[in-house]
Amino acid sequence: MSVSAFYIPAVNLMGSGCLQEAASAIESYGFKKALIVTDAPLVKLGMVAQVTELLAKHQVNSVVYDEVKPNPNVDNVEHGLAVLQEHQCDCVISLGGGSPHDCAKAIALVATNGGAITDYEGVDQSAKPQLPLIAINTTAGTASEMTRFCIITDDRRHVKMAIVDKHTTPILSVNDPDLMLGMPAALTAATGMDALTHAIEAYVSTAATPITDACALQAIRLISQYLRSAVSDGSNGEARDRMAYAQFMAGMAFNNASLGYVHAMAHQLGGFYDLPHGVCNAILLPHVQSFNAQVAAPRLRQVAAAMGCDVQDKTDEQGAELCIAAIRKLAADVNIPAGVAELGMQEKDIPTLAENAMKDACGLTNPIQPSFDDVCQLFKQAL
Ligand SMILES: [Fe+2]
Repeated sequence: MSVSAFYIPAVNLMGSGCLQEAASAIESYGFKKALIVTDAPLVKLGMVAQVTELLAKHQVNSVVYDEVKPNPNVDNVEHGLAVLQEHQCDCVISLGGGSPHDCAKAIALVATNGGAITDYEGVDQSAKPQLPLIAINTTAGTASEMTRFCIITDDRRHVKMAIVDKHTTPILSVNDPDLMLGMPAALTAATGMDALTHAIEAYVSTAATPITDACALQAIRLISQYLRSAVSDGSNGEARDRMAYAQFMAGMAFNNASLGYVHAMAHQLGGFYDLPHGVCNAILLPHVQSFNAQVAAPRLRQVAAAMGCDVQDKTDEQGAELCIAAIRKLAADVNIPAGVAELGMQEKDIPTLAENAMKDACGLTNPIQPSFDDVCQLFKQAL
């Protein structure tokens, strides 16, 4: 059997009210000045002020960079880095969902390694650990608060760069579901379907291990049980809490087993048309898993069971079909659009999208390697 590594932040705070403990932890690390990387909606919601005031009570000064776009780009990284250098920050705190976390990782990585973020595209291209990063999560989720994955859009090439680097792992992740109560329904649905995609892609990945399998299956169970309630009633504390755990476990799975062609293709849609990551994944997920079923049917049958389907008397192929039907049902129940055409994708762009998807590092662990024509076909089905 091959060797496997398991990456995860050293400390991970979970549960209602854990933000308070996070502030004590940041103080005890001895940091003096933090760069807070976040986005404008969280400033408007008052969450940034809440965090800066809490830090001040713990003798940690902070300066805010709040211009992170939903698909963070190279300019965001450079502007945030300039603020960090100007104020001589000794740590970075990301506050938000995947976008601020990814942008913060890129800033912290370039802060210690030099050069430009484009130098670090690919796997483990950096020489040194990043500046210490604490990630406070407000969505459930990309799991970026606890992974070594960092996705930055290169606007000049219209691609999302996948930076997979052990040095981008935060030192502390914070999942306080109280910070997730205000998340709008559409964002809850998109980020929840992203987490489901992480778990399923990790479970059928060629790099899956018994550890990642356990995390993936439990994440799938919780998402199947709680995502609908989190979407229909955002103030449901139990659903928010369970979804925070679910997305974290899905992160544990894919941070170590990696992903597959859903993400490889979704990154291209997101980069090309500036679309929400979770929605792209949710639309592509059933199509790519139908394709994967030619080799991964036994595993997809297990996913169906975790989603609550009765697979007892079913063959692997029948189980895989139940799995795909259950994914479609969940996506429809949380109001995910049926295809990407209504989001602006055009058939003429498919060859470019497919070519870039085949270069994305996430596709390497898909259970079967598709041809260029296969990828074009999958994009066409998702229209
Ligand atoms: Fe994702």
